[in-house]
Amino acid sequence: MEKHVLDGPPTYTDATTPSPSRPWQNRRRKRRTFRIFAVVLLTYLMYCTLKISNNAANPVSTLSMERLKEDYATCSTLSSKPTESGQQRSHNKRWVNTTRPLLIHNATVWTGEPAAGTSEEDARAGKGWAWVSSDVFVDRGLIWSIESAIDKSLLPDNTEEFDAKGRQLTAGIVDMHSHAGLGAVANLGDDTNELSSDITPYIRSIDGIDPLQPEIEFIKSGGVTTSLFLPGSGNNMGGEAFVLKFAVGPKSGRTEISQQDMLADPDKTWRYMKMACGENAKHVFGRVGRGPFSRLGEAWQFRHAFEQARKYVQEQDDWCAAADTVGVENMAAYLRQELEWESLGAVLRGQVRVNTHCYTAADLEAFVRHTNEFKFRVYAFHHAHQTYLVPEVLKRAWGGTPAAALFADNMYYKVESYTASERAGAILYAHNITPTYVSDNPVLNSQHVVFEAAKAYRNGLPYHAALAGVTSAPAGLLGLGERIGKIKLGFDADLVVWDSDPLSVGATPVQVWIDGAKQFEDSIELKKPNLPPVFPNQELEKDLEREDVEDTIVFTGISHVHHNAFSKDKNDAQATVAIVSHGKLSCVGPCTSELETLTSSSIPPKTIVLRNGYLTPPLTAFGTALGLQEIDNTITPDTHDGPPPESNISFASDGLSFGGKQLAAAYAHGVTRAISAPTHGGIDSQGISVGFYTGAKNRLENGAIWSPVVALHYPLTLAAKKGKTPSTSSAVTELKTKLLDAVDELAKDDVMAPRKDWIQESHYLKKIVQGELPLVLSAHSADTIASIIKLKDYIESAIASYTSTSTTSNTKLQIVIIGGAEAHLVATELAAANISVVLAPMLPHAQSWDQRRGLTGPPLTNVSTNVLLDAGVRIGISVDETWESRDLVLLAGIAYANSEERLSFGEALNLVGGNIDEMLGIEKQEMTIRGEWVIWEGSPLEICGRVRGIGGAEKTSLWT
Ligand SMILES: *[C@@H]1O[C@H](CO)[C@@H](O)[C@H](O)[C@H]1NC(C)=O
Ligand SMILES: *[C@@H]1O[C@H](CO)[C@@H](O)[C@H](O)[C@H]1NC(C)=O
Ligand SMILES: *[C@@H]1O[C@H](CO)[C@@H](O)[C@H](O)[C@H]1NC(C)=O
Ligand SMILES: *[C@@H]1O[C@H](CO)[C@@H](O)[C@H](O)[C@H]1NC(C)=O
Repeated sequence: MEKHVLDGPPTYTDATTPSPSRPWQNRRRKRRTFRIFAVVLLTYLMYCTLKISNNAANPVSTLSMERLKEDYATCSTLSSKPTESGQQRSHNKRWVNTTRPLLIHNATVWTGEPAAGTSEEDARAGKGWAWVSSDVFVDRGLIWSIESAIDKSLLPDNTEEFDAKGRQLTAGIVDMHSHAGLGAVANLGDDTNELSSDITPYIRSIDGIDPLQPEIEFIKSGGVTTSLFLPGSGNNMGGEAFVLKFAVGPKSGRTEISQQDMLADPDKTWRYMKMACGENAKHVFGRVGRGPFSRLGEAWQFRHAFEQARKYVQEQDDWCAAADTVGVENMAAYLRQELEWESLGAVLRGQVRVNTHCYTAADLEAFVRHTNEFKFRVYAFHHAHQTYLVPEVLKRAWGGTPAAALFADNMYYKVESYTASERAGAILYAHNITPTYVSDNPVLNSQHVVFEAAKAYRNGLPYHAALAGVTSAPAGLLGLGERIGKIKLGFDADLVVWDSDPLSVGATPVQVWIDGAKQFEDSIELKKPNLPPVFPNQELEKDLEREDVEDTIVFTGISHVHHNAFSKDKNDAQATVAIVSHGKLSCVGPCTSELETLTSSSIPPKTIVLRNGYLTPPLTAFGTALGLQEIDNTITPDTHDGPPPESNISFASDGLSFGGKQLAAAYAHGVTRAISAPTHGGIDSQGISVGFYTGAKNRLENGAIWSPVVALHYPLTLAAKKGKTPSTSSAVTELKTKLLDAVDELAKDDVMAPRKDWIQESHYLKKIVQGELPLVLSAHSADTIASIIKLKDYIESAIASYTSTSTTSNTKLQIVIIGGAEAHLVATELAAANISVVLAPMLPHAQSWDQRRGLTGPPLTNVSTNVLLDAGVRIGISVDETWESRDLVLLAGIAYANSEERLSFGEALNLVGGNIDEMLGIEKQEMTIRGEWVIWEGSPLEICGRVRGIGGAEKTSLWT
């Protein structure tokens, strides 16, 4: 690569102010000059009049001269514009002088810029971007050299060396939407939203950020080095936000544990503010009768606040202009200064970068109107699910087109996100609008925000733009585009060496540096093959449309068959073709004679030409709310089946709803089978689960329900602590009582029992104690899981004592635990008790007290999947929010990538399929009725794998 040596660090400029906005700035300056002139004239006249009368009365001013002078000094801060600092940096101001120089040797570097000389147009189209082999030298917190084979003899003696062994090196990840440190880990406290008023521009997130929250560490372990720490979105104006780096205290190379020490820019060049439109504020304040009750009221709240701030700014400007003219010593009053309007005033002065939570077309357009009415710039709309539908509206925003800070595929969780597209990023990018990817931690775990970018790439956003979406793009939007987000001379040395391409499945940092300081002392590294970067696959940019057909279809280019019905977990080099008709596979293999017959027929069949095709069984979503909840939010209960009753049981089969977007999304991602139970939300279910086909029209369709009774579910997470069972202990006791009752019932002859008993809980409990029906319990805590292990043993002894002479004395309960965040702590005991675990979520991040000891993964910890596999526990994977069911195959991919060869390809797929069937005793033939195969282009366990065909219900769904 080209040799780069630092010969003068860059100036600190505002990288995101687009040049087309200059004309208005000039116009504004002219208008302003004119206004100041008018004010001066007016003040002079007033001054003459006052002076005459003063001379007459000769009063003595009671104002403090000192304070007047201070006020006057404030005038220059008020008018300053934080665009350029103009400083050449000899060192990074965040640098701690004990941090040694660093040489990263033999890295594959993503600089974040296209090759020199690439035109903007070519760069947008993806040309000129590359991973390049290089060394990187870092000193005084800055990047000093990026070149191959840096001569060590020329470096300072105390230089530390890190051998990247050819692995990928990127700039630290920048997540521009995080609430880290504000909500206590394990959900034990929350300082995210200041809800004393709908308009709180005056509060500051930094005042509540706890630098000791464990999440600071595990978020950083995902390569995130910098975040915009925002107040919440409960009110229309949430308050000031701060850009902080994730280095805290001596173990992170800092001298102290301090909020201030985390500031990414110690000069505090820019300020930031969070605003929010739409659903949240009206629900928070409307519900308690204060208003706003509607979007109409919200617009008023915004405009009214800006009106106050505008008056405030005007009064200050008038005062400063007058002081300029008459001399501050002659001013009759102090400068108006109020904390209440100071920060919003600074917004109008262009000193604050506004970031607004805004989803819908109506909200976006209203907010764009506010920017024009009050002349302030919004830098990014966050969540922004409908921005892809209204790019022209965004372009009308005052001061420059805002970016969209998005999730890749987290949607349908509230009404505002029910209109959304996985392709939003790609569509916006095509309209010249910058997409960035954010976590909204703890909504998503910021640790994995790079995975959002990976999914955006999978969904059509060009590779370089996806990676920019978590590095240089957010850096620029924060006004730090000349300091972070790229590997470039003179930039802050925030660096990540990855164990695989950051946009691949399961990518994990090996080491992270912030301002040149190493962040992980004894980092855990999983053995992974040293693979080259993901080749940007431009095929992904093509949108695929679903079409359902009955005709015969020929898929060519099937290179991997992992389907029990055809060949077991091995590459079948012979299988190059799959022929399907009416949704059924009729031939897999060379199929020479079949093809001959087909091609010679009068209507030759449609042929889908694949590269690297895979044939697999369909996937299963177990224990999600699929089919029972369409919009997860609790304020949309009409879209839910509803919670299970307090006593007795209900049957999920009676509450299923088909035809929604959630099922369609799951289906389109290969999840054609779901097992859902009446749910309290998340993994906490109670009642009888149903096994169904996600592609069905309704439950009456042939095979729509392939098992009306899969298992009996109870919650034993924190959700169990309510109503009749206020504690974990009472919930376990109640379950124990029910099971013992059932054991007692076994003795009675139930031949003549009334038929209505068939829908009684006791009927199914009896099946459980006869070992005929699985018992599914949601639980995360290792201690609750230990109680479940004891319970199993206890009930099995009770059965044995009852039936010691009969043949059923060896009856074993079939218990499946869903959740399992802390299951790794009792892995051996779970295996000995033959209890299966479905991890949901697979990658826990201490979302609740009972999950706090979950493993967050390398470089901090091992992963649960490996610990459980080593102990011999039968495991599966599920998710705790409905929308995530579409990502099941990627989760299996992560487990596979992390498995260090514990899992074969087929075994990894079984985590979201075969294993679930096995632990629930579901017969294989049940799945041959429908949706029994999926054809992918590219490996389904890798980021580029996409569904191209699904068979079932006499039809084939094609994506072409
Ligand atoms: C590092 O900084 C500390 C405090 O700022 C200072 O006392 C010390 O002399 C410095 N050390 C070096 C090697 O510059
Ligand atoms: C860089 O690392 C790769 C992979 O470990 C290795 O094959 C190569 O020889 C290394 N190159 C240098 C210059 O050390
Ligand atoms: C519900 O359960 C109670 C006991 O808890 C029982 O008396 C009642 O018959 C049950 N009702 C139905 C409809 O199953
Ligand atoms: C473990 O449980 C499964 C059913 O859940 C059963 O098929 C298997 O035989 C059991 N294994 C042992 C060793 O008991």
